[in-house]
Amino acid sequence: MQIPDSIDAVQAQLAAQDYVCGRALGTVTFLALKLGRPLFLEGEAGTGKTEIAKALAAALGRRLIRLQCYEGLDAASAVYEWNFPAQMIAIRTAEAEGNADRDLLQRELFGPDYLIERPLLQAMRPDQHGAPVLLIDEIDRTDEPFEAFLLEALSEYQVTIPELGPIVAPEPPIVILTSNRTREVHDALKRRCLYHWVDYPDFDREIEILHARAPEAAATLSREVVAFVQKLRTEDLFKKPGVAETIDWAKCLLALDVVSLSPQVIADTLGAILKYQDDIQRIQGGEAKRILDEVRAELAPA
Ligand SMILES: Nc1ncnc2c1ncn2[C@@H]1O[C@H](COP(=O)(O)OP(=O)(O)O)[C@@H](O)[C@H]1O
Ligand SMILES: [Mg+2]
Repeated sequence: MQIPDSIDAVQAQLAAQDYVCGRALGTVTFLALKLGRPLFLEGEAGTGKTEIAKALAAALGRRLIRLQCYEGLDAASAVYEWNFPAQMIAIRTAEAEGNADRDLLQRELFGPDYLIERPLLQAMRPDQHGAPVLLIDEIDRTDEPFEAFLLEALSEYQVTIPELGPIVAPEPPIVILTSNRTREVHDALKRRCLYHWVDYPDFDREIEILHARAPEAAATLSREVVAFVQKLRTEDLFKKPGVAETIDWAKCLLALDVVSLSPQVIADTLGAILKYQDDIQRIQGGEAKRILDEVRAELAPA
């Protein structure tokens, strides 16, 4: 599949994957593809950062390679490792067979058969369908040394394995980095990328997303759910619900055959949108009723 040739085309191709992409996000995505620059998406959890990488890969017919970041992630887990157990077995076997060609054995042991390719190396490999989409997810969970390492890998699209030499990507992968901003990511890395802050969607866009992801929800319920979640986000909560929570909640309500919100239904299902007991306690009871009354007043036809 060809790279889309306009912002409209990007939005349309993502829409075909049930991904609702606003103009601003469509623009940076288009530019990232056109200029071959990594796309850095920062925003609250559950706002569709990871999902756009999946949708883009599916839209372009490219392979999606995901590097999930975590504290302590090092180059070995990100790029490659030698298959140590298999090497040991090969050595033992060679010893048992009295195979004495040490040079040959050594070359074999540090050759492709014993190499375990991790996401960054996989992303450098040629692919018949075109360069893959490399998703470097939740970069804010790693540490600065790993960021520095990534910066280098992303500026050259090349990794070096001492025993094998440099491996250069024939065509750079389409790179999407995400951060939930639990800490600031270093300027140098951001500067390499096109940056976009992914905000919570407004009412209309969230309705659109819900319609794309839970089409079985009727309009009345969808509007109530979205309006309620949007109001919740303005409350003083430890963790605000993301779009993922809106969708989950709607699906829970559908499973319970709920057609319209009530304080009781909200109290029973609050765990689908709030994941901290303190937040649940704050909202349960009187607060839920107050918010629901506001929602009803706003949604009522004028
Ligand atoms: N713009 C969107 N279009 C369609 N679905 C979306 C959109 N934004 C969020 N979602 C839904 O919300 C879920 C969570 O989004 P995700 O990408 O995992 O969030 P995060 O920003 O934390 O990576 C997705 O699985 C998807 O169902
Ligand atoms: Mg994510």
